[in-house]
Amino acid sequence: MGSSRFPGKTMSELAGHPMLRHVADRVKRARLIDRVVVATTDHAADDPIAQFCEREAIACFRGSESDVLDRFYQAARKHEADAVVRVTADCPLIDPEVVDKVVERYEKGDCDYACNVLRYTYPDGLDTEVFSFTSLERSWREAKNPADREHVTLYLVNGTFRTVNVESEIPVPPGEYRWTVDYPSDLEFVRKIYSELSGRGRFGFKEVLQLLKERPDLAATQTEVISNEGYYKSLYDQARGEVAPKRSVAKSQEWFARSQKVIPGCSQTFSKGYTQFVQGVAPIFLQRGLGSRVWDVDGNEYIDYIQGLLPNILGYANEEVTRAVSEQIAEGHSFSLPHPLEVQLAEKLTELIPCAEMVRFGKNGSDVTAGAIRAARAFTGRERVACCGYHGWQDWYIGSTTRNGGVPAAVCALTEAFRYNDLASLEELLQRHPGEFAAVIMEPTNFEKPAPGFLQGVKDLAHRHGALLVFDEICTGFRFGLGGAQKLLGVTPDLACFGKAMGNGFPIACVLGRADVMRVFTEIFYSFTFAGEVASMAAALKVLEILETTDSLARMEANGITLQDAVNVMAREAGLDRRIKCVGWPYWTLIQFTDLEGNESSILKDLFQQEVMKRGILMHTTHNLSAAHDNHDIQQTLETYAEVMKTLAGWIEDPKPARYLEGTPTKPIFRVR
Ligand SMILES: Cc1ncc(COP(=O)(O)O)c(C=O)c1O
Repeated sequence: MGSSRFPGKTMSELAGHPMLRHVADRVKRARLIDRVVVATTDHAADDPIAQFCEREAIACFRGSESDVLDRFYQAARKHEADAVVRVTADCPLIDPEVVDKVVERYEKGDCDYACNVLRYTYPDGLDTEVFSFTSLERSWREAKNPADREHVTLYLVNGTFRTVNVESEIPVPPGEYRWTVDYPSDLEFVRKIYSELSGRGRFGFKEVLQLLKERPDLAATQTEVISNEGYYKSLYDQARGEVAPKRSVAKSQEWFARSQKVIPGCSQTFSKGYTQFVQGVAPIFLQRGLGSRVWDVDGNEYIDYIQGLLPNILGYANEEVTRAVSEQIAEGHSFSLPHPLEVQLAEKLTELIPCAEMVRFGKNGSDVTAGAIRAARAFTGRERVACCGYHGWQDWYIGSTTRNGGVPAAVCALTEAFRYNDLASLEELLQRHPGEFAAVIMEPTNFEKPAPGFLQGVKDLAHRHGALLVFDEICTGFRFGLGGAQKLLGVTPDLACFGKAMGNGFPIACVLGRADVMRVFTEIFYSFTFAGEVASMAAALKVLEILETTDSLARMEANGITLQDAVNVMAREAGLDRRIKCVGWPYWTLIQFTDLEGNESSILKDLFQQEVMKRGILMHTTHNLSAAHDNHDIQQTLETYAEVMKTLAGWIEDPKPARYLEGTPTKPIFRVR
């Protein structure tokens, strides 16, 4: 009854009864539930709930409001439950079949906790968690953190318990459907569902999904909410916002001094260079990595959210990949003639990626984007290219940016950028040089989601102007799914480029696509010594196998949602929500730092980076998740973010926040996105 967002919600009227009655009725219909117990608080405000339970002959237990874990434990103990199925009373569309499915999974006996909420493949509002009494008891005994006491199963999920997630046979995209009742507008939504469907007898989530497909207008009035918002808030409340000590980076500095004499720029890759981090605070040289973590040359440990600039999709030194590569190396890996692994990997990619009929390999993303452009030029007999995003270091692309030193002017003039989600900017470009464009190359998405119809619009425009559409999936492959963003977004290009995560850090990339276009590779020159190096191909086959046969991508997605939501909730708690925003798809999110006018704020970015770095997190501004980031890493990150947000909240009103910077500010990379 005491919900702050919607007081009295559980007893609100829904189709002639209190909402709680519908939840109880639905749960009672589950075949595998022995007893339904309402666990409410001992506050007088909840008396109506207890009275309702008495009238309806439903068992009711009353306990602590804040220590909900204790309330659950005491209720389960009193009722001598050997297993507890947790359902919340604000889910009036809970489906008994889904409850049974999760219970059935739990009853297999290989886990302590089964649920359908570690990764949402069901609509939010069918949440079912099942756990053993002994696990509940252990949590009750061990959990000390107030957040763990308030959010009953948090300790179960983040601890050392064996957990499994049950997935829907009709998976829905994360965040697409929210059927819990948090606000009055949510109840309005559920009322409409009940009034549409009640006449047709009992209905479950499949009937609701079907109805919403036919009547998307029914969901329009709902307020957007964040799962686990209360938890992120309580972490923020608990944070002390204390100043963290600087870590020693003396050895990094020594290597840096040596490097300056022999390596121009001191780094082989722009984004890994010292200018991208607050110098004096950040490490410059790393020594080793394992899983989600790295250690710098001074011995400092970090959770790494850069992951080699995305390649390490399974984390550093993944054992299975290392073994596959070692076995190949023992048999040779740079051969004098082609090797069967090239064919096997090409076959696998054509199975997985919608546009892929034939494949050629490379080592870097830049190899294959350059290959795609040369192929498109040869195939169409045209020279111009329209681009959108970043596509590598080669002349054809980098000439279109402000960092075009060393690129002949004639080459620079051939590539021009258009704006994402702005079809008119592409149309204007294509019309300016009619019949001259060989290709439209773009990142199908990065942090900005495509507006409805945008990608199909690009494809239609490109084709209408006789140009090929090339998707640069160097970053989206394979975090956005094994079929790349093209599969997720339902638009198939003529050619596509993959790289980065393909080999979990081993150098491998590919250009693939329509067979008639790909055959042009037999006529152009696309050839280099290491393109057929097969240790990296052994790595790629192993990476694809792991991604296909484990829940790696699902866990990364769930962690992505958690980090994004946590940043946004904590920024709001800190009064920084107009300055710090985490945007993008759960697979790859970006934290944006701005001033109150919305202009990029490099000082805020630097302060954030400095503070997370001092507390053991290595990052630019994105969450480059790997499957090796586990619950422990995420929890540590959330606690760090809470501390850092609280610290920044105290600094940002200072007229000179730069005085809190403990090193040299970062230098911006030229802008292309
Ligand atoms: C979208 C995109 N395309 C192409 C490239 C170039 O790849 P590489 O640096 O492996 O040559 C990158 C690299 O960051 C990229 O992000």
